This record gives sequence, structure tokens and C-alpha cells, in this order.
Amino acid sequence: MSVWGVLVAAGSGIRLGAGINKALLLLGGEALFCHGFRALKRVCAGVVLVIRPEDQAEVEEALLHGGLQADRMAYGGETRRQSVENALAQLPADAQIVLVHDAARPFAGEGMMREVIRKAHEAGAAVPALPMTDTLKKSRGEFIAGTQSREGLYAVQTPQGFRRDILERAYKECSDALTDDAGLVERLGLPVALVPGSRHNIKITLPEDFSMAEKLMRMPPRVGLGYDVHRLVEGRALILGGVTIPHEKGLMGHSDADAALHALTDALLGACALGDIGGHFPDTDPAYKGISSLALLEKTVALLQKKGFTPLSCDLTIQAQRPKLAPHLPRMQANIAAALGVSPGKVGLKATTTEGLGFVGREEGIAVQAVAVVEECRL
Ligand code: CTP
Ligand code: MG
Repeated sequence: MSVWGVLVAAGSGIRLGAGINKALLLLGGEALFCHGFRALKRVCAGVVLVIRPEDQAEVEEALLHGGLQADRMAYGGETRRQSVENALAQLPADAQIVLVHDAARPFAGEGMMREVIRKAHEAGAAVPALPMTDTLKKSRGEFIAGTQSREGLYAVQTPQGFRRDILERAYKECSDALTDDAGLVERLGLPVALVPGSRHNIKITLPEDFSMAEKLMRMPPRVGLGYDVHRLVEGRALILGGVTIPHEKGLMGHSDADAALHALTDALLGACALGDIGGHFPDTDPAYKGISSLALLEKTVALLQKKGFTPLSCDLTIQAQRPKLAPHLPRMQANIAAALGVSPGKVGLKATTTEGLGFVGREEGIAVQAVAVVEECRL
């Protein structure tokens, strides 16, 4: 029995109001549709992904980023119904069971999907559904007109499963504009089985649904570590944390050699597994000669944001025998907070000598350690 999935991601997400197709919004560090796609791939031989032509480049990038591959693609239509119809035309000849799933549901569990498949095979069509638990009211204007029994009432979810012949017939014979696929099969008078759905299998429709989904993702914050050393030489300015500090020596380097910001930049990149500062801003590139490391830090934060990460906090220890750094720490802290887009209270900053020991103690150089904490999956 060959099971194929159809993932419809060709809507526009008007009710969510993010200004882009909600299927492309980042949830847990990847586009929303990728979650449903990965779920389907776990139980299907292949998946037809339905997208809008204008989203194609972003969809392909998101798939690549997630290490995913669409077996087949189709363009969506004006309505969800048309989008599903376009996908059905792409199914391979040997597909016997079809699971139709909304990209707007990122949390479909494997056990539930396998049950939908099993029941669809047995009964011809099956949908995951939840018995209503709230008391139901009918309204007239702003007032209640009556109480409805919730007995026998269900809210249905996706993926909905069908024997392929039944689904194709339903789409051919029913022209009704319904919001789910099982409805068309019902119109044919054919049975549709109920399978237990999941309360976690929420559909993202409104902005509150999206924040609920972020909570459900429960992404733990990520931590990165950075370390940098620069040599102290005469004839250079000493710049740390974006502050120029009066001293008879300064740090040697291709950029302004701000070891504090370099360690922090590496910590941020490390937290996101995005490589290191040398890879992003090579010291062989004349563009970075003498550049302010604050500018590099700002570029790094912009890159993180593009990849779906938000800096939350950081902590740095600067190892310098001289000069005394304490008077300069508040200004460094303010610079770093501004670049990270956090309040100064989220920026830990300390300076220490090494009691005269080692290269720091001999005043040959300054070393900085940094840790950064970032959060994944903000909008
Ligand atoms: N969908 C689709 N093609 C359409 C309309 C909807 O593929 N022409 C998809 C959506 O991408 C979504 C699913 O059908 O994954 C469920 O639709 P819905 O939640 O209504 O999403 P949107 O239509 O994008 O949202 P809205 O109705 O708020 O604009
Ligand atoms: Mg819609």
C-alpha cells in the first residue's frame, strides 16, 4: 500500500496578518510548512508540496535549510480546494492512500497519522477529530440566542486520509466550496471514519495561534562560546567594547582589533552554529581593514535575525593586566546592549588581571572570553 502526502501551503495567511504567506513564517528556526512536511515524510512514500509561484524561491531555500526534498511540487489555486486539486494531478500512478495536510498545522504526531492511514485503508476515508469540550452557544447579534448540545459534535483536523479513488471521485463530482476534504466525500454519501485527533495538533490561523505554537515548540535557548586574543603594540588605539581607552599601547589587528567584540561575535555565531567571525569577515578582505568591530557585531546580529535567532543575553570577561578597565565598562555595556537590541541589564561584563601571570600578565596581549544566549524562532 503506497501512501502519498499532499501538503497545501499556497494560502496567503490574511487572518494571521503577518504580511506574508504564513506558511513561510519561521517557527522553531524553520519555515512553518517544513514542520508539516517533515511530519508527512515520516509516514508517506512521497509528498506533493503545493505552493504559490511567488513563494517558490523562499520555499526552495527553506527546504534546503531543513535538509528536505519535495518529491513533487504543484502550484496552488485561488482556493484551498483548487490547491488540493492541482496536487492530485501530480500524484504518481501507484499512490493508493492520500493524506491531505495543511501547512498551517505544524504538530501532527506520527501515531495519529498512522491511525488515519490505517482507518482510511479500512473505511475509505478517515479524519482526526476532537470531541467538543466547550459549551456551545448560538448567537443573535451580540447576544446569546440559545445553548447547543455538544453531544456528538467534533472539531476536525488534518491530515485527512483517503483511498485515492474516493478522493479523486469526490473532487470530480462535488463542486462545493468546503474547507475540508472529508466534506466532499460526505457529499457522495460515503463513510468517513473518525480517528482521535490531538489537542497539540493546533491550526495556526490567528496571531495568538502563532504565539501558542511558539510555546508548544518549547525551544530551549542556545548558548555560544567565544574567545579572542590580540597582541598589545605601540602606535595603535586600544579599543574594547567599542570604547577607545587611553593607554600607551593598543591591540594589533586587521580591523580595530576589539577583542571583546570579536569574542562576543564568535559566541553569537557559535550559539547559532553559523561558523565564526573569520569566516564571515575574513582578514584578507580589504573591506574590513580598520573597520569598527561594532559594525561587524551589528552585521552579525542582522544575520542572526535573518536566520530566525534573537540575542537574549551575553557575558564577557576581559583579561588585561593594564589599564584599569572598570571605569569604561558601563560605556562598553551600553554599546553592546544597543548592538544586540537588549537592555544593558542583559549584558554581563567583567575585567580581570591575571596576577601578572602569562602573556596577559606580561602585558603582551589582551584575552577575552564570552558566552552568548540566543533564542530561536521569533517572527
Ligand atoms: N491554502 C492553499 N491554497 C489556497 C488557500 C489555502 O494551499 N488557495 C492552504 C494554506 O496554505 C493552509 C491551508 O490551506 O496551509 C489552510 O488554509 P488557511 O488556514 O485558511 O490558510 P490561508 O488561506 O493561508 O489563511 P487565511 O485564510 O487567513 O488567508
Ligand atoms: Mg484560507
